[in-house]
Amino acid sequence: MVNVLNHPLITTKLTIMRDENTSHHLFRELLKEISALMVYEILRDYKTIEYSVKTPTGSIAIGEKMDKEIVIVPILRAGLGMVEGILSLIPTSRVGHIGVYRDEKTFKAHEYFYKIPNVSKESLILLVDPMLATGTSAKDSIERLKKDGFTNINLVCLVGVEKGIQTIRNEHPDVKIFLAAKDLYLNEKKYIVPGLGDAGDRIFGTK
Ligand code: URA
Repeated sequence: MVNVLNHPLITTKLTIMRDENTSHHLFRELLKEISALMVYEILRDYKTIEYSVKTPTGSIAIGEKMDKEIVIVPILRAGLGMVEGILSLIPTSRVGHIGVYRDEKTFKAHEYFYKIPNVSKESLILLVDPMLATGTSAKDSIERLKKDGFTNINLVCLVGVEKGIQTIRNEHPDVKIFLAAKDLYLNEKKYIVPGLGDAGDRIFGTK
């Protein structure tokens, strides 16, 4: 399932992020805000469990609480830019990290970092990376999480293209994909067009 969260609050912020003249400071701030807005939408259908509290009027109010742990898993390094915004909305979330790279000659995936909280395998995983380009890092990360037993994985990206969507759909049809925008294509350097450039460089000001 692919869900493109077309929403004016998201799209207007994303347009500023796309602008090549936007500073890394503002870029990072907007990524944080959009990540929070996306998760607000993504959790709309999230199942809660009922529980009751006693209010100061002495009566009982039936309320709700989350029924599962939520684990934010940024794909290093650009995914880090999405963590703070999600935590601002769900401060009880845990955070794991995945670092994978592909050997440019053998195309084999190499994991250089993997640290995931020790939680139930049914926990809701929000695997985050701003860009869904070829989809290989996301695919490798999903494989790693599944190898660990996780069954409820959601991939949350800012901008994606059909190629990346197909990579995930073909290999992991059970994984829900959420995008703020679907862009046109990948250029010869595998950058998303129109895209927003190298997300990691723009978040961390490394260029
Ligand atoms: N990664 C990026 O940071 N930007 C792209 O356009 C594609 C992959």
